[in-house]
Amino acid sequence: MDGRMGTNGLRVEWGLFRVGVMKRDENRENLARDIERQFEFDFLRATELAALNTMQWLGKGQKEKADEAACDAIRGMFDLMEMRGEVVIGEGIKDKAPGLFKGERVGTWTEGSPMFDIAVDPIDGTTNVSKGMPNSISCIAAALKQEGEERCLQDIPAFYMKKLAYPLEVRRAWLMDPSLPIDVDAPIEEVIEVTAKILHKEVRDVVVCILDRPRNYELVEAVRRKGAAVRMILDGDIAAALAPAMATSNIDLYVGIGGAPEGILSAAALRCLGGGMRAKIWPRDEEERKSLIAAGWGDYLDKQFMSKDLARGDNIVFVATGISNSPLLRGVEVRGKTAITHSVLMRARSGTVRFIEAHHNLERKTIHLRSTGRERRI
Ligand code: FBP
Repeated sequence: MDGRMGTNGLRVEWGLFRVGVMKRDENRENLARDIERQFEFDFLRATELAALNTMQWLGKGQKEKADEAACDAIRGMFDLMEMRGEVVIGEGIKDKAPGLFKGERVGTWTEGSPMFDIAVDPIDGTTNVSKGMPNSISCIAAALKQEGEERCLQDIPAFYMKKLAYPLEVRRAWLMDPSLPIDVDAPIEEVIEVTAKILHKEVRDVVVCILDRPRNYELVEAVRRKGAAVRMILDGDIAAALAPAMATSNIDLYVGIGGAPEGILSAAALRCLGGGMRAKIWPRDEEERKSLIAAGWGDYLDKQFMSKDLARGDNIVFVATGISNSPLLRGVEVRGKTAITHSVLMRARSGTVRFIEAHHNLERKTIHLRSTGRERRI
């Protein structure tokens, strides 16, 4: 307000005052809508710390110790975050590893603090870490939710899902023409054919990534018969499922049967990246099928989940830090007294993808671990 007072001076001031109040309300609304922005770097710190704390176990042949170190660092960071977080997808179901478990409360749980559904894989590629091999990351997806709202990240109580992940261009083409065979049940040869057309590539140049498991060998053979390029990975299918949606990768499709929790984390990241994923529950045997039916999942056994069914809403953040080198992220590098971490941070609402290289001064850097309850030098 400039304080001018004329015949209508009062009205001018009142008008400006109202504009000011509206702007403030709008800002408040934007802030409330985007609360995850205030937490995203703390989630990122959690995976950075997990990666740093895991380094001591790289190549040591002790999977559980590595997992324990990553979990301890993540829990320690969560303890410092003023939020009401609930782990809705944790690790440990598949292999009884020392994971963060479903239902675990994380954060300070201060009254009125924001509520987050959290999916976490402290290490995707634990075997790789224990053998000192490439392709291991630490990652977290967090979705802001309102009191009383349904889950934003869908827990699927199965070990495995059959997945198909594809780039934005393929998702857009399918949205324009849903009759296209972009589908986990469609023969992979057809999926490749249509992907080649959409991406303006020759079939032989379509690169398909597959987890190296006997249960996926039929798929591998089909891709080879079709003449497309196969890239197999030993472990770590979250990074692999994101690859088709990342401009920096040369993977066009990710297909095959991998962990169900990993599928939800991939879906959350793909919601941020704009790529797409289809996934279907893949019971390992009759016993698991029966137990899924008994748990009320019978109607969903034939359902093709899309990424937005597995990770709902727009208030989603996905963060990952490389432990050992992968096509998605470089692993932790130690140069003298400095440790360098490479991370990615993405948000569904804005679609912003940040690659963050952090230089940690090992002479000063501390980690807040849950086990000790205080800061500890790395
Ligand atoms: P972990 O790091 O939890 O062992 O998971 C590694 C992984 O390769 C996942 O990326 C993948 O989804 C899953 O295991 C496949 O499961 P399995 O090793 O039982 O075939």
